[in-house]
Amino acid sequence: MQSETDMRALAALLDWYREMGVDTAVDEAPVDWLARGEAVPGRDFRLPAREGEAPPTRGAPEFKSAPPIPGEREPPRPAPQRTAPQRPAPAFDPRPGFSPKPPDAAELAARSAAKSAPNLEALESALRGFDGCGLKATAKNLCFYRGAPKARLMIIGEAPGSEEDREGRPFVGRAGQLLDKMLAAIALKEPDVHITNVVYWRPPGNRTPTPQETQVCKPFLERQMELVEPDVVVLLGGAAAKHVLDVTDGIMRVRGKWREIQIGGRAVKAMATLHPAYLLRTPAAKRHAWRDLLAVQSALENR
Ligand code: URA
Repeated sequence: MQSETDMRALAALLDWYREMGVDTAVDEAPVDWLARGEAVPGRDFRLPAREGEAPPTRGAPEFKSAPPIPGEREPPRPAPQRTAPQRPAPAFDPRPGFSPKPPDAAELAARSAAKSAPNLEALESALRGFDGCGLKATAKNLCFYRGAPKARLMIIGEAPGSEEDREGRPFVGRAGQLLDKMLAAIALKEPDVHITNVVYWRPPGNRTPTPQETQVCKPFLERQMELVEPDVVVLLGGAAAKHVLDVTDGIMRVRGKWREIQIGGRAVKAMATLHPAYLLRTPAAKRHAWRDLLAVQSALENR
C-alpha cells in the first residue's frame, strides 16, 4: 500500500508534469521522441518495451489540465524553464513489419493513398490506414469531417482539440458551437456545409500543427476538396489560411479578402476569417467575422 507521503509525492509529480504542458500519457516513463530519428509513429507505432515489461499500449487516459475549456484549442504553453530528471531514452526499436518512413516518403505515401480514393468513405479508410503523420501516435481518434459529404460551402479549421479528439468529429467543442451559431446567422445548418481541419488528429497539448504535419496531410485535404466539390471555401484562423492559401501574412491582413484556389482543375473562391476560438477570447473581433460571413453568404447566393 502507498503511504500518504508517497501519494503526496505522486500528486506533486503529476502537478509538475501538468505545469510543463503534459496532458496526454503515452507511457509510464519519459521518452525522448527525438531519439526516434526519421521513424514515423502511427497506428502501429509501439514504444519500446523495457526489460521485464509487457509492451505498453496506446490510448492511456488523459490527464485533466486545470481548468480545461472544453473543445477550445488552448494556445501552446511556453517552453519549460526547468528540466526533469530523465532516464536515458530507450533506443527506438520498431517492430518487424512496421516500416518507418522519412517525411518525403510519408508525403509520397499520402499522395498515392489519397489520389486513388474514389469517395469520402475510401478516403477516410485510407486515412485510418495511414501512418505517416506523427500526430496519430498520441490522438485518440481520427477527426475526418462533419456535415454533408457534398456541400457548396467547405469550412477548414486548424486541428482537432480535446473534445473533437474524444468524439472523432471536428468542431464539436465550444469553438464548434460558436461556429454553428455563426452559420445559423447566415441561415446555414450542419447538413448544408462540410467542416474539416488541415490536420486530422489532435496535436498534443493543442499546439499548432507543424509544417511537416500539415504538409503530410495535404494530399488528403486536397482529395477531400475534390470530392466535396465546394463553390466556396472558408479558412478559419491563420494556420488554415497560411496552409491552404499559401500566404505568409497574419490573419488580420489576410481575412475578408477573396482569393482563388484550384480544386480539381476548377477555380474556387476562398476566404479566410477569424477562428471561432479566437472570437471566444476576443468578442470585440466578432464584427470582422460578421462582415466576412455576409460576404460568404452573398457569394453563395450569387452563384
Ligand atoms: N479548432 C479547430 O481548428 N478545429 C476543431 O476541430 C476544433 C477547434
